[in-house]
Amino acid sequence: MSQKNLTFSISRSNIDEAGREQNRRHQEFALEVNERMTVLDALEVIRRDQDQSLMYRHSCHHGSCGTCGMLINGERKLACLTAAAALEVETIEVQPLQTMNPLGDLAVDPTPLFVDYPKDATYIRRSEVHADGVKPFEVEHWERFEDCIECGLCVSSCPVTESFIGPAALAAHNREIINRPERRAELLEAVNTDRGAWPCARALNCSRVCPTGVYPAKHIAELRKKIEQDGMTPAAEPGEKRAR
Ligand code: SF4
Ligand code: FES
Repeated sequence: MSQKNLTFSISRSNIDEAGREQNRRHQEFALEVNERMTVLDALEVIRRDQDQSLMYRHSCHHGSCGTCGMLINGERKLACLTAAAALEVETIEVQPLQTMNPLGDLAVDPTPLFVDYPKDATYIRRSEVHADGVKPFEVEHWERFEDCIECGLCVSSCPVTESFIGPAALAAHNREIINRPERRAELLEAVNTDRGAWPCARALNCSRVCPTGVYPAKHIAELRKKIEQDGMTPAAEPGEKRAR
């Protein structure tokens, strides 16, 4: 297996007792990687062998838990799905996701992501994959988890700077309407606000960065359409494109 010498330029910081971030800086670590190592693998080796104080979040190592989102050479990615050597650079810059409160180094607090999720939403839905398959007699239908892994990459990439529910929670509202149509009126009311479906500026960044194909922008467009179809008065003007 081929090996490659890389430099990881990692954004570091400390959090003081009052929860304020201090001393944001970059620190470089040299590491030999093989072609199979991901950026998360590299962070783990650096933490094990070079600096045990390095902080980052992760759990599953396979793109399911959504905890390892970060900026890797300026792009929002899951560290566990990003092969380090394949980036074809000598230095890999790693930073925490912007727009989320820092917890130190690469770790961020994902709590705000969940604040506006629909309450009591179901995370299981009917599977389309085996819709025509032959089912064992005792199986009524196939089910699977929703696509969203709550990684926050979409929220971090969104250029809307005003108060906004954000792409992940809005996509969750539309999924819940699809899963449970009986909640449609209640959920449309929740997103027909000046911080709900309307501030979206259609930049489409959310759909581009989503690692699991949720396409949040499509869900937001569907929510707006449903609001109009149901004769509700839009709570705000649609947002315009603007840069963060
Ligand atoms: S919609 Fe996609 S990018 Fe946004 S939180 Fe869910 S999985 Fe992550
Ligand atoms: S560690 Fe779970 S998605 Fe990366």
